[in-house]
Amino acid sequence: MEVIPSGGAHGAEIKGVDLRQPLDDATFDAVLDAFHTHSVVVFRNQDITEEDHIRLSARIGEIDNDVYSHFAHPNHGEIVIISNILDDDGNPIGISDAGKFWHTDLAYTNTPSRASLLYSFEVPVTDDGNVLGDTLFSNTAAAYEALPDDIKEQIEGKSIINRHAYAYFKSGQGEQFKKSADALDDVEHPLVIKHPFTGRKILFCNEAMTVCINDMAENESNQLLGFLVEWVKKADFVYRHKWQAGDLLMWDNFPTQHFVEHNFKLPLRRRMQRITVRGTVPEAA
Ligand code: SIN
Repeated sequence: MEVIPSGGAHGAEIKGVDLRQPLDDATFDAVLDAFHTHSVVVFRNQDITEEDHIRLSARIGEIDNDVYSHFAHPNHGEIVIISNILDDDGNPIGISDAGKFWHTDLAYTNTPSRASLLYSFEVPVTDDGNVLGDTLFSNTAAAYEALPDDIKEQIEGKSIINRHAYAYFKSGQGEQFKKSADALDDVEHPLVIKHPFTGRKILFCNEAMTVCINDMAENESNQLLGFLVEWVKKADFVYRHKWQAGDLLMWDNFPTQHFVEHNFKLPLRRRMQRITVRGTVPEAA
């Protein structure tokens, strides 16, 4: 197995691993090590079944399948379909609006995902060979470290309220998330958290779901939050994943946020399946 860093803010490719086979202990430990070091890792040219995808995810931790059961794979409740494809009745076969705003998976629950594992079957490619639908990942540990000192002081000890699909509803795009939003209450998390494995400090508010910073006047909270959610998008912190069919991309949700470029539409098809592994309750740094 070989780990090739992206050369950017974070991210790496792991070569020499065939995910159709159960990984031996040494390889699995090396994969986890690369995952904690690089936060976003890709295994290219995989040809895996649903069972292979589930086996790798379950080895990392408990699979979280509570939220999007209405977009689950028909035979595997653990898998969520993410796609812009429509069925014969014109209904989406999965979530088509995923990632329109920067977010951390399941950070609107008490236990945000420890890991997300997204496998791509089809990626949108233009006639001249341009791949669309990139996923961008911000390194939110680096984003925290680079904050000006006065902002670090202002956010010290603060907490936030997160709400499922908050930015979608606010911008009139909440339709696909109505069912899941109805079933979920707001949650409170620390604004700066400590990574459960590496101990690094992480900026934990995000554009998609953070409603406010607690114990601040509304205008002050809006202004600071506006600054922070833009800060994480700075190019210095961002790795851009250009998809290929057969990629298994695995990211650590604690020190990252991601966003999908929705610059494609049918007949260009994007079809992926995702499994999320349950994390722990975020601890204040
Ligand atoms: C997600 O937000 O988990 C989906 C990412 C993607 O579709 O690239």
